[in-house]
Amino acid sequence: MTNQPNNLEAQLLALQQEGEKAISAANTLESLEELRVSYLGKKGQMGTLLRSMGKLSAEEKPKIGAIANTVKEALQASLDKQRHALEAAKIQAQLKTETLDVTMPGIYRPQGQIHPINGMIDKALDIFVGMGYTVASGPDMETDYYNFEALNTPPDHPARDMQDTFYLPDGNLLRTHTSSVQIRYMETEEPPIRIIAPGRVYRRDTVDATHAAVFHQLELLAVDEGLTFTDLKGTIKVFLQAMFGDLPIRFRASYFPFTEPSAEVDLQWNGRWLEVMGCGMVDPNVLKAVGYDPEVYTGFAAGFGVERFAMVLHQLDDIRRVYASDLRFLRQF
Ligand code: DAH
Repeated sequence: MTNQPNNLEAQLLALQQEGEKAISAANTLESLEELRVSYLGKKGQMGTLLRSMGKLSAEEKPKIGAIANTVKEALQASLDKQRHALEAAKIQAQLKTETLDVTMPGIYRPQGQIHPINGMIDKALDIFVGMGYTVASGPDMETDYYNFEALNTPPDHPARDMQDTFYLPDGNLLRTHTSSVQIRYMETEEPPIRIIAPGRVYRRDTVDATHAAVFHQLELLAVDEGLTFTDLKGTIKVFLQAMFGDLPIRFRASYFPFTEPSAEVDLQWNGRWLEVMGCGMVDPNVLKAVGYDPEVYTGFAAGFGVERFAMVLHQLDDIRRVYASDLRFLRQF
C-alpha cells in the first residue's frame, strides 16, 4: 500500500517536468492553449491524477494534496510565462512589419486643377451671385418648344438658320443656346426673377480655331416691374469690369427673336473690338408664352459664350486647345 502514494507523487512530479518542457517549447498561443487544456483542463491529466487520490489514506491525502498544488501552480506559472513571451513576440513582429519609415521618400501625386472653362464659369457665377442672382439650369436635350418656339422663333423663322443643330430621331434636339432655361425657369417661378444659367450648347458648325460643335454659355435673365435698358447696360458693365478689369465696352444694335431691342456687346482688347455677348430687353411675346403680363413686367436677358471669354482672357489662338486635354496646355492656368 505504501507504494501507491509514492507512485502518485512520482507521477505528479513527472507530469510537472513533462508539462514544463512542452509549455516552454510551445511557439504559438493556440498550441499553448491546447497544452493548458491537456494538463489543467477539466478533463486534463492533472484532474485524472487527482481523482485517483480518493484511494489514499487519510494520512497521505494532505501530503500528496500539497504536492499536487505545487505542481498545479508550477504548470500554471509556466503557462503564464510562456503566454506573456508569445504575446510580446507577436507585438514585436507586428511592430516590425507595420512601422512607418518616416525617412522614406513620399509617393508623388501630381496635383489637379480647375479646367480653365470651369474656372471661367465659376468666376462669372460668383460675380452674379454677388449681385443677388440665383444659379439655374436646364437639360441639354430640349424640345423644339423650349429651344425655339417659346423664344419667339416659330418653325419658319429665318433666325433658325443661325443656330442649326443636331436633331434626335424623336424630334427633340440638342439645345443651341442656354436661352431655353429662361422659359423653363419662368414657367415654374413668378417675378421678380434674377437668374444666371451656365451650360453646354450644341451647334452644327464646322470646327475650326474659333468654332466648336459643343461649347458653353452663360444665360442671364432678370424680370421685374420697371426694368429698363439702363438696368441691362449697368449690369453688364459691372459684370465685364469684374471679369476683365476696366476695359472699354460698347453696345451695338443687333437682332435676336427673343429680345426687342437687341444688342451685341463688344470689349476692346489689345486695340481690337471683340464681340463677347448678345443681349436685349425680353420680347413681350416671350413673357406671354410663360403667362407673364408684359404690361406689368419687363425684363432683360443676355447670353455669353464662355469659350469666347476664355480666349480673350487667356489670349488663346485656338478654341480646340481647350478640349484637347493636353496637360502641357492645361497646366498653364
Ligand atoms: N441665345 C443667343 C445665342 O446663342 C445669345 C443671346 C442673345 C442670349 C440675346 C440672350 C439674349 O439671352 O438676350 O446666340
